[in-house]
Amino acid sequence: MAQSNRDGFTSTFGALVATLGSAVGLGNIWKFPSLTGSNGGAGFLVVYLLATLLVGLPVMIAECMLGRSARADAVTSFERLAPKGQGGWKVIGWMGFAAALLIMAFYSEVAGWVYAYIFKAISGSIATTDPKVAGVAFGELVSNPWASLFWQWVVLGLTGFIIAFGVSKGIEAVTRRLMPVLFALLILLCIRSLTLSGAGQGLSFLFMPDFAKVTPAVILTALGLAFFKLSLGMGTMLTYGSYFRPEQNIPATAARVMLADLSVSLLAGIAIFPAVFAFGFEPAAGPSLVFMTIPAVFTSMPGGVIFMTAFFVLTAIASVGAILSLLEVPVAVLSERFHLPRKGAAIATIGLIGLLGVPAALSQGTMAEVKLFGLTAFDLFDFLSSNILLPLGGILICLFVGWVYGLAGPERQMAETGTPMNRLTIRTAFFLVRYVAPLAIAVVLLNGLKLF
Ligand code: TRP
Repeated sequence: MAQSNRDGFTSTFGALVATLGSAVGLGNIWKFPSLTGSNGGAGFLVVYLLATLLVGLPVMIAECMLGRSARADAVTSFERLAPKGQGGWKVIGWMGFAAALLIMAFYSEVAGWVYAYIFKAISGSIATTDPKVAGVAFGELVSNPWASLFWQWVVLGLTGFIIAFGVSKGIEAVTRRLMPVLFALLILLCIRSLTLSGAGQGLSFLFMPDFAKVTPAVILTALGLAFFKLSLGMGTMLTYGSYFRPEQNIPATAARVMLADLSVSLLAGIAIFPAVFAFGFEPAAGPSLVFMTIPAVFTSMPGGVIFMTAFFVLTAIASVGAILSLLEVPVAVLSERFHLPRKGAAIATIGLIGLLGVPAALSQGTMAEVKLFGLTAFDLFDFLSSNILLPLGGILICLFVGWVYGLAGPERQMAETGTPMNRLTIRTAFFLVRYVAPLAIAVVLLNGLKLF
């Protein structure tokens, strides 16, 4: 295949921003706080940090490196890099394809809520610090089937349109500018939240661990979040790595993305938990937590409506960068393997997600009682992808890099930026990928699913 025809990131900075754009999204602003809240707070945070450092970061380096070596979509990459007769490794790519669709089915719904909240913020209808009123406003939106489907389709239409334009024009151009503004707004939120009376309780919830609450299921959830947060285990980072230029320093890029991503999550946590306790919200509220507490913090500051609107606009934009990276996995597979034009691949992907998305969108209303394993479609898709497919994909990627692909490939990849520091990093990452990460993931997965 002629590699020069492949689109790619036009600069190393652009690649860094797009990779960061993939990592930062609803995972930081919505998933991190709700999971931290419903899994007991600081203890969960500690496990999440360990999972990010010992598993997330090395897996991220491994994925980007695989992509850049193969210069192909998630399925073809494994085919190309596997030794003769071991083409079966490409199942990792197909699992990623499936995971992307499952994640998008519920992610697009949450992004839809964010879009709807932009208009609610402007209208002033969510400007309240009263948990009851906030709960009713959220409930009205999510239980209304037409509103849920409508907003989901707004999200799918918009992002499908952007993805059709390709990597350098679509993804890179859109994710480039807005991260700093979101950061500034989050800091503003933190300041207000920390100055509320009763803020201390929220801080101790977030930072004083109670390890009695850390059960195997909590550990699995924290590991799943580490994968979800850094867009790992399903070929997103592999696909993005395939668009990196040869001079991109992969370990440095991965470390920067990890740190920046973590800062956004922590800021979101610091913005939310003091307010949760100050206003009497329920920390374990789950998916609704953010949609109730963030408006409450803004309502309690001057100019609240304007900042609140800006916040939801920026969160919507942040979700776009993450969604584009999710869509890119199936779109690249369909267009490179089946030679579909990019537009056709984008339409097929959006169509599949639209179908899967219906039960997810109706999970809080019309189909709330339809459950499998005790979970609604929304929760089931989330659990299956984050807690099973991503960790499983992670194990397989580690085994592939650690035991099949080996260290020679990564070291060759480092040749362009081969400082001694880099060599040390790559060897450490390789050790983690070969031994520590696959074992840790396997134990956590088996324990968390009570199979062990
Ligand atoms: N990391 C994004 C977030 O936290 C979501 C995301 C984008 C993702 N691409 C992914 C999650 C790939 C898992 C796999 O919002």
